[in-house]
Amino acid sequence: MKIAIFNGSPRLENTAAMIKAFREGAEAAGHEVEEYHVGRMKIAGCMGCEYCHTKGEGRCVQKDDLEKILPAYEEADMIVFASPVYYFTMTAQIEAAIQRVYCIGKPRKATKAAILLSSGSPGVYDGAIAQFKAYTGYTKIENAGIITAHGAENKSAAKLAEIRDFASKL
Ligand SMILES: Cc1cc2nc3c(=O)[nH]c(=O)nc-3n(C[C@H](O)[C@H](O)[C@H](O)COP(=O)(O)O)c2cc1C
Repeated sequence: MKIAIFNGSPRLENTAAMIKAFREGAEAAGHEVEEYHVGRMKIAGCMGCEYCHTKGEGRCVQKDDLEKILPAYEEADMIVFASPVYYFTMTAQIEAAIQRVYCIGKPRKATKAAILLSSGSPGVYDGAIAQFKAYTGYTKIENAGIITAHGAENKSAAKLAEIRDFASKL
């Protein structure tokens, strides 16, 4: 499978460690993995102008880094959202990207999706998980898995092994 990972973290720490483990497992199983570091891209929020659905033929009127991720979003067989929890949801950067793909609608090919969430505290995932489940329901993409890591679990050998194992069995 062609797997596209959208990394919502602006940093290269805990979420990056989860992604690295995921990549190791997935590549060992023969999958092709590409990461898009959305947390460091400049992607503005959707303006709701409906240009994309009127004159734009699916193209967004705003020209920014969204263009760097749209082809991957359209072509991937599996989509992975990876983000730290910021105030009980994913980061603003990845939320902007998710909302801006409104211009093309549902991904064309993806049959699976997963979410990797890193946080400081336990029990802070309800918002992000509810969104992810609603997203997979709406797009009719299989929810392949939800993996969380909080506090000391971040970068721990046990958590990274769990993620590697998960990705190797996709
Ligand atoms: C702006 C901001 C908001 C945060 N909000 C939460 C939160 O609501 N709950 C929580 O448990 N951790 C919160 N954290 C902590 C991060 O989720 C945590 O440190 C995470 O492991 C960072 O991942 P990263 O190294 O990939 O950036 C917040 C951190 C920042 C910078």
